[in-house]
Amino acid sequence: MTEASHKDGLPKDMLHILVLSLTFLHNLVDGSISCYDDSGKPVDWFIVYKLPQPHHRSPAGGMQYMYQDENTQGWVQGRSLMNNTKGAVGRTLQQLYTVAIRRQEETAYVLYNDAPPKTHSSTLKGHTKGAILLDQNQGFWLLHSTPHFPPSLAEKEYAWPHSALLYGQTFLCVTYSYDQFKEIGKQLLFTEPHVYDCRVEGTFAQDLPALLNASEGRHVQKEPWNSSAPLTSLGGKEFVSFAKFRFFGDDLYSGWLAQALASDLYVEFWHRSTGILPSNCSGNFRVYNVEEVAFQEPATSFPSMSDHSKWCVGTESDPGWACVGDMNRNCAEEYRGGGIICCRDPAVWKAFYSLVQNYTDCDGAGAIQSIRGMELEKGNRD
Ligand SMILES: *[C@@H]1O[C@H](CO)[C@@H](O)[C@H](O)[C@H]1NC(C)=O
Ligand SMILES: *[C@@H]1O[C@H](CO)[C@@H](O)[C@H](O)[C@H]1NC(C)=O
Ligand SMILES: *[C@@H]1O[C@H](CO)[C@@H](O)[C@H](O)[C@H]1NC(C)=O
Ligand SMILES: *[C@@H]1O[C@H](CO)[C@@H](O)[C@H](O)[C@H]1NC(C)=O
Ligand SMILES: *[C@@H]1O[C@H](CO)[C@@H](O)[C@H](O)[C@H]1NC(C)=O
Repeated sequence: MTEASHKDGLPKDMLHILVLSLTFLHNLVDGSISCYDDSGKPVDWFIVYKLPQPHHRSPAGGMQYMYQDENTQGWVQGRSLMNNTKGAVGRTLQQLYTVAIRRQEETAYVLYNDAPPKTHSSTLKGHTKGAILLDQNQGFWLLHSTPHFPPSLAEKEYAWPHSALLYGQTFLCVTYSYDQFKEIGKQLLFTEPHVYDCRVEGTFAQDLPALLNASEGRHVQKEPWNSSAPLTSLGGKEFVSFAKFRFFGDDLYSGWLAQALASDLYVEFWHRSTGILPSNCSGNFRVYNVEEVAFQEPATSFPSMSDHSKWCVGTESDPGWACVGDMNRNCAEEYRGGGIICCRDPAVWKAFYSLVQNYTDCDGAGAIQSIRGMELEKGNRD
């Protein structure tokens, strides 16, 4: 490149970078289908942890949440309530009742939940809950743990179910480019979601045959019965999706995930079901059941009995992985479809690791997590 060409204008590759960033910004401006944060800004991803309702408090107490995304570097207090479309989850899902209704030909969506809003729960299909919405450019996949949620489009508006006040719930939203929904569709053929509302038509049906098939209740027909797939968010962050079909016949965490991630795991899940699997140290990597969760700011702690969330985090022996997903650790769910999404991010790891207040060791004994356990013992008991 000569001196003269510098004076004439921007060098070619700078122009290229400028065009690329403008495209990226364009994809993130208002109106694009995306995950949104509490202030209404499009974000690449977020994680929301709805807290259990403290005893004898108002409904609002059962709709408070903690929030994190790439800008927060850990948990911050949610700025809204779960029933409000100003909160991250409400804002994001609100696009179903606005954009997806107004722009029918230009959008596709899939809502699935083993405990759907109006009909009976499915005990055969996958133990999996989520919402997908996309247009021809991009969209979001929100994976969550909340029964009877979100409302189908026929309800015309976002709402939080009364049944979901009491217990804790987790949400992972990631914004993806259009092509990633091919992979996402394939993963859904393993998890076998119970779809209660969807529209995958026209070019979406042509381009995304697996998503179409999964939305119509089809599933994998032959081994292998599990599949992991890397997923890259619109902003370039790497996630890994793990999905199992019901014939997998084993616990997601001890039977696969811990070995796949090569990491010991603390697993938080719903302890109010029958056939809970104990902590498991028989494999190369150990799986410990979390018994108690504690947030520091604001200080609150709760037992796993009050938490319907499903997440896991690498132990201090390998700081790195954190995952949010569908599955509990119990006998019945060894024979159900479902999955989990993981990422290896120091801030996300630290955020989840810091929540583990107490877990069960493999001899069945309770273990208080080292230093933090001590700190928190001083008067933070709910
Ligand atoms: C959300 O719930 C609170 C507490 O019950 C209530 O005061 C508020 O009106 C609700 N907001 C919406 C948008 O439904
Ligand atoms: C979708 O289902 C049709 C009909 O069963 C089948 O022919 C096709 O291979 C499936 N495609 C994918 C990607 O699952
Ligand atoms: C399925 O799970 C097993 C562990 O049970 C693992 O060894 C295997 O690699 C997984 N298969 C795929 C395709 O991910
Ligand atoms: C530990 O996990 C493995 C894989 O899920 C399973 O085969 C084994 O039975 C479990 N052991 C105990 C003691 O639960
Ligand atoms: C940790 O859990 C064990 C077993 O669930 C329980 O016995 C113990 O009291 C708990 N410890 C703390 C500090 O909560």
